[in-house]
Amino acid sequence: MVSATAAGIVEEILSLKRERRAILLAHHYQEPDIQDLADAVGDSLELARKAREFEGNVIAFCGVWFMAETAKILNPERIVVVPDAEASCSLVESCPVEPIRAYRRRHPDHVIVSYINTSAAVKAESDIICTSRNAVNVVRSIPPDKTILFLPDSNLGHYARRETGRENLKIWQGLCIVHATWTARRLQRALAEHPEAIVAAHPECPRDVLALAGFVGSTSAIIEWCVRHPGREFVIMTESGVSHSLERLAPGKRFFFIPNENCNCSECPHMKRNTLEKLRDCLRDLAPRVELPEDVMTRARRPIERMLALR
Ligand code: 13P
Ligand code: SF4
Repeated sequence: MVSATAAGIVEEILSLKRERRAILLAHHYQEPDIQDLADAVGDSLELARKAREFEGNVIAFCGVWFMAETAKILNPERIVVVPDAEASCSLVESCPVEPIRAYRRRHPDHVIVSYINTSAAVKAESDIICTSRNAVNVVRSIPPDKTILFLPDSNLGHYARRETGRENLKIWQGLCIVHATWTARRLQRALAEHPEAIVAAHPECPRDVLALAGFVGSTSAIIEWCVRHPGREFVIMTESGVSHSLERLAPGKRFFFIPNENCNCSECPHMKRNTLEKLRDCLRDLAPRVELPEDVMTRARRPIERMLALR
């Protein structure tokens, strides 16, 4: 049940949204109350596409900062705000731009494939962007004689290398602080408790976890797969925010999440920084606002558009 205060905040958000001609985009890892208010809920690829398609003045991006930067790069003339400016990502933090520029200078003929979980500055040094949904297709789109540097998620890079059989794919050593901490041993324990359950996993998980999965894909792809699958029980190896859509779209099924040893939860601390109150405040104040140098946006747009052009 929504409390009187929460209901008041929801009213304020809806009225500010009209006044600002704003769209609310929310990632699956956001709190249910934020997802319920959003014009679109999706994975990082779907939200990038949505950000390109809308009419209005303001995008309130309920996700992490790099996702909002992508929306800004695709909408340089619009205002893009994020409820909490500190909603970062361990993958972005693992990959500063200087070593990537140095790599570019040393290897001008290599193709840099950057996961969307990178800063705008790193995207500006990249040849093409990918998300967890299309990483394999993006790698396949690159001529086989080309050496690739895949960054920054090492688990996703190894997954793309296994799926494509590309030997000439070098991999950056970044990790997600949520997915990379899950182990096959912990997953096997969950499967012993739920012997009927099938596993769906995000490719940011370690290799031995993916080896136990019946399906590997992005957050939206996991949801779509579980909804369609005839099974009744699933262990979900991604952030527990996806349970909101899973429970709504597949009401008779049961979904189990693995608690992370650091927090005893399955949540991304960055994603969970956003709250309804902060969403109201960012619409009211039009801040925290994503601002990027014009030249960085121009250079980062090219690899993003290249990805969006791939179907
Ligand atoms: P998606 O591509 O599924 O949105 O995942 C993004 C992400 O940050 C996963 O941790
Ligand atoms: Fe980044 Fe991991 Fe959080 Fe996704 S779950 S935003 S990869 S820290």
